[in-house]
Amino acid sequence: MSRMLVCVAWPYANGPIHVGHVTGSILPADIFARFNRMIGNETIMVSGSDMHGAPITVLADKEKVSAEAIANKYHTINSKAILEMGFQYDLYTSTHTRNHEVVSQDFFMKLLEKGHLEKKSTPQFYCDSCKRFLPDRYVEGKCPHCAYERARGDQCDSCGKDLNASELIDARCQLCGATPELKQTEHYFLQLSHFTDELIAYAQKSPHWRPHVRAFTINVLKEGLVDRPITRDISWGVPVPVKGFDDKRIYVWFEAVIGYLSASTEWAKLENRPDEWKKYWMDESSKSYYFLGKDNIVFHTIIWPAMLIGYGGLNLPYDVPANQYMTFEGQKFSKSMGVSIDIPDMLAKFRPDVIRFYLTANMPEMKDSEFSWEDFASRVNNELVATYGNFLHRALSFVWKNYGEIPVKGQLDERDKAALERIAKAEKEVRGALSACEFKRSLKEVMDLAQFGNQYFDSVAPWSLVGTDKAKCGTALHVSLLISKALAVLAFPFMPFSSESIWSQLKMEGTLEQAGWKGLEMPLKEGAKLEKPAPQFAKIEVKSGGDFQQFSALNLKIGKVVDVQPHPNADKLYLMKVDIGKQITMVSGLKEFYTAEQLKTKTLVIVTNLEPATIRGVKSEGMLLAAEEGHKLALLTPEKDLPTGTQVSSGMEPGQKQLSFKEFQKLEIRAGTVSGDPAMLDLGSRKVRCIIDQPSGGKKYAAFVAGDKALVLHAADKTKIVFDSDIPVGAKIR
Ligand code: MF3
Ligand code: ZN
Repeated sequence: MSRMLVCVAWPYANGPIHVGHVTGSILPADIFARFNRMIGNETIMVSGSDMHGAPITVLADKEKVSAEAIANKYHTINSKAILEMGFQYDLYTSTHTRNHEVVSQDFFMKLLEKGHLEKKSTPQFYCDSCKRFLPDRYVEGKCPHCAYERARGDQCDSCGKDLNASELIDARCQLCGATPELKQTEHYFLQLSHFTDELIAYAQKSPHWRPHVRAFTINVLKEGLVDRPITRDISWGVPVPVKGFDDKRIYVWFEAVIGYLSASTEWAKLENRPDEWKKYWMDESSKSYYFLGKDNIVFHTIIWPAMLIGYGGLNLPYDVPANQYMTFEGQKFSKSMGVSIDIPDMLAKFRPDVIRFYLTANMPEMKDSEFSWEDFASRVNNELVATYGNFLHRALSFVWKNYGEIPVKGQLDERDKAALERIAKAEKEVRGALSACEFKRSLKEVMDLAQFGNQYFDSVAPWSLVGTDKAKCGTALHVSLLISKALAVLAFPFMPFSSESIWSQLKMEGTLEQAGWKGLEMPLKEGAKLEKPAPQFAKIEVKSGGDFQQFSALNLKIGKVVDVQPHPNADKLYLMKVDIGKQITMVSGLKEFYTAEQLKTKTLVIVTNLEPATIRGVKSEGMLLAAEEGHKLALLTPEKDLPTGTQVSSGMEPGQKQLSFKEFQKLEIRAGTVSGDPAMLDLGSRKVRCIIDQPSGGKKYAAFVAGDKALVLHAADKTKIVFDSDIPVGAKIR
């Protein structure tokens, strides 16, 4: 027997947890923890909400509420979603507790005393009108790499490069727009280089890590470790326990990883065994597993281990089975990028086991995987319902109808014996795969056993055997129910709710959770009366909405009108010169709506990759987007001014190929009002769900519409596309 500490990355409390969190870290952790409890390992699974850091304060500033209010709101929402999904944390806490503060400050002081923290003075932007230092994310300016005007101090959303705020050209305070100045400020730096040798040795003696985790870690170590500042000039977070640092806070990543330890001590206190955590952290035979997405690897294989080595006496992570990304419509799930399928929403439509099934079957363990509603429906319907659920239901209902009780296991023939061996093989495979954190493979083994069950049932053909040899038929059905019981046990880590229900339908003693893996050996109670079985799973239907990939054929850019002339060969047309980063000529039919003078000041959204058309002898190299309804027309324009040439990609790869007008006409783009939470786009005749979360100010936006979903058009910096004049909702854009 071993002892297992299962650690799960702490989701930021800046939004509801989404599919990315679940398939990336929470679900694999839960499967692993459940399995370990089942086989009798002493196991605790701990984590909580990450309450501090810029993701929280940025949202709080935007919504004009306190950071604490935001963090508490989503901590509550997520605690509930986690419970409903059946994620069995021994403790799901948060980083905004007194206990976490004490443990984090103690950790900080210990590293300070041991000489691993160094105080250094560095220049940092200070905004004199806001009277505060600006975290890098709060500084905006021109990107030194691509000249994008609205790059953030930590990253440029246009070229994707990591930045330091001091590299920005013409830096501005993102809160008030004033020009900040660089001021010296003191911070503590974690001297990672102290730990290089030990970290190299640590990575080398971890050949069991997933190849991509190990390769990434070794690569970072090879590049050399640089000291990292672990304090910040902010007011939301854990106070720095040093005099003169009252205005500063500990950097969120430094304290969040300490959460694994503080959650363990908090758990022990709640259990009334205050020293119990030590077994998991100090006993060297205990193993710790950390579940997270790949963007968090460095914090768990380098920084946290370095901190633990510096602190001394605590176990390093044994395994860090990081997952890759699950993408949606080709993009990473991310709250800040506005791509997400929230778990509370999914729970409103599907049972937790169904979600858990699909997110395991499609888990991005070794490479990225793609979420799509079509794939979701097809795997659930074809595998979970048609194979797994089908076998369980036909076996149980046949027995119930024809015997009413669990039939006696008589003399086993060769085929029956082979079936029992098949169960034993499945058990071995599932156990092996789960121990190795190969969740997808282990679920596949369970599904394969269900498929075997169907074959066995077909070959027995109890519907004819029951009339000729009821005892022999009873034996085969008994074996079928043994397969069913094995399925319930083996599937329990993945689908705990349905497994528990099958267990009770089979009239087994106690709960499956109590029986654990031993449930495999427990006999069925011959003669136990059955109740009418209920099918575990039903086919699902998903409306094929949300297919926004079609819009990535478009290449939309911000253009400014430079010149407008009447078309030489047509009364109703203008000849326009528009700057889209370069100057192009366009023919447009706007004469009855705008004078040339009015148009000359306009900033527009231009389709830049339409096949050039020759209109009355003049080649038109682009097309402006306008909404039209009845006799009204409104031009699409960015909500705030953007430089010419800025992509309006709405988070997708802009189209590189030429697009025919016919293909363009197939795309549905409309004007609509956004409101509500979840945000809905009102198109007049119908309402569709916004896949990007929007401020619900009842404003009118231009949006891509696909099925029952909409995506508001926006540029890389999320500036949305609106209209230059009023237009009825639902108006079509072309
Ligand atoms: N909040 C971080 C994220 O969502 C994860 C923190 S995991 C931690 O990316 F353990 F390091 F805190
Ligand atoms: Zn850039």
